[in-house]
Amino acid sequence: MIGSVMMRVSVVLLLIGMVAGMAMGIQQNFTLAPAHAHLNLVGGVLLFLFGLYYRLVPAAGNSTLARIQGSLHILGGLVLPAGIALTLLNNGAYFAAPAIGSAIVVVATLLFAVVLFRTERT
Ligand code: HEM
Repeated sequence: MIGSVMMRVSVVLLLIGMVAGMAMGIQQNFTLAPAHAHLNLVGGVLLFLFGLYYRLVPAAGNSTLARIQGSLHILGGLVLPAGIALTLLNNGAYFAAPAIGSAIVVVATLLFAVVLFRTERT
């Protein structure tokens, strides 16, 4: 089920984000701090919470919309921090990358809202 996939991916992303945070601290170079923050929060925390909801509420987690939502959130959770890092490392160039990443995350969150409202109403 998509909830389990989301939770498993989220802990992997969280571990990568934490190791990246340690690397920033060791090198005393905080250029990529916003990428680290978004990887941990969108790819780690939010992805885990949404996945947990799907696990706890199978009526929501077994829906096709939940599968689309979860897949989209995983994609956005990767593209957004990667895009932020790309822009930060290139003096603001490649701005389309974080813009696309954030659009994916917004659409995914909108879909989550639809799943949530639908499920909680029934
Ligand atoms: C092993 C765990 C972690 C380490 C070693 C770590 C390390 C760091 C470092 C070195 C910074 C930059 C601080 C500065 O700019 O002065 C930072 C910023 C930040 N971290 Fe972490 N972090 C960890 C886990 C997390 C987690 C789990 C989250 C969120 C769920 C998180 C969210 C943030 C945020 C929001 C910022 C501020 C980003 C910004 O100023 O643009 N971090 N972290």
